Amino acid sequence: MTWAIVPAAGRGSRFGGAVPKQYLVLAGRPVIEHSLRAVLDHPGVDGVMVALAQDDAAWPGWREVGGKPVLTCVGGGERADSVLAALHALPASIDDDQWVLVHDAARPCLHRDDLARLIGEGCRDAVGALLAAPVRDTLKRADADAKCLGTEPREALWRALTPQLFRRGGLTRALSSAHRNGVRVTDEAMAMERLGLKPRLVEGRDDNLKITTPADLALAEFVLSNRKD
Ligand code: C5P
Repeated sequence: MTWAIVPAAGRGSRFGGAVPKQYLVLAGRPVIEHSLRAVLDHPGVDGVMVALAQDDAAWPGWREVGGKPVLTCVGGGERADSVLAALHALPASIDDDQWVLVHDAARPCLHRDDLARLIGEGCRDAVGALLAAPVRDTLKRADADAKCLGTEPREALWRALTPQLFRRGGLTRALSSAHRNGVRVTDEAMAMERLGLKPRLVEGRDDNLKITTPADLALAEFVLSNRKD
C-alpha cells in the first residue's frame, strides 16, 4: 500500500561525537533500527528506502525485514536533498499517485498507534498529512542579544514531527521546486505549503522525540524501556 523513506544521511553535528546520532546504541541496538522497525511493523508498509551518507560505514545495514525490502540510496547535503534522492530511487512500480511515508532515522520512539492514525487519516486527505504536537510552552521572540521582543500566541502553533505522508508525485514536485528555487525546507509539509497546499496535522504523542542532543538519547531510553503497549 505504501513505501517508507527514512532519511539517515545526517552527520549529527549538534549532537557531537564521531558516530552520527542515528547509529548510537539505544536500548541495545542502533537508533536507526528502532525507527525502521517502527515503520516496517505496520502491515500497510511494503518496504523502505534508506538515504545514507556516501561514506557511511557506521551501520552494517539490513536487506529485508520480515520479507519487506530495505533498500538504500545515497543522500544529499540537506535533509530535503536526501528525501528527494530517496524518492527518485524508489522502485518504478510505485507510481506517482501512491502514498509515501517519510520518517526520520533519528526518531526511534514512533508509537504504532500514531502511525496507524496518520496513515488512516492521511490517506483520506487530498494533500496528505503529518504527525504534529501542539506547542505547550510560552514562546518568546528575541533579538540577537537574547532579549525578549515579545510573546507569540501559541494557540495555533504545532511542532512538526515525522512520519509525514504524501503522494510520491506531489512530494517529488514540491521538493524539486524548493530545490530549484534555493528554498531550504526543513520538512516535507513545508515544501507542500510553498505550493499553496494545506497538509493535515494529525496529533501525535509528545514522546516521538528526535535525537538531537545526548539528553534526548537518555529520554528515548526511558521512553522505550517504560513502554507497555
Ligand atoms: O539534522 P536533523 O535532526 O534535522 O535530521 C533529521 C533526519 O534527517 C535524521 O534522520 C538525519 O540523518 C536526516 N538527514 C539526512 N540528510 C541530511 C541531513 C539530515 O538524511 N543531509
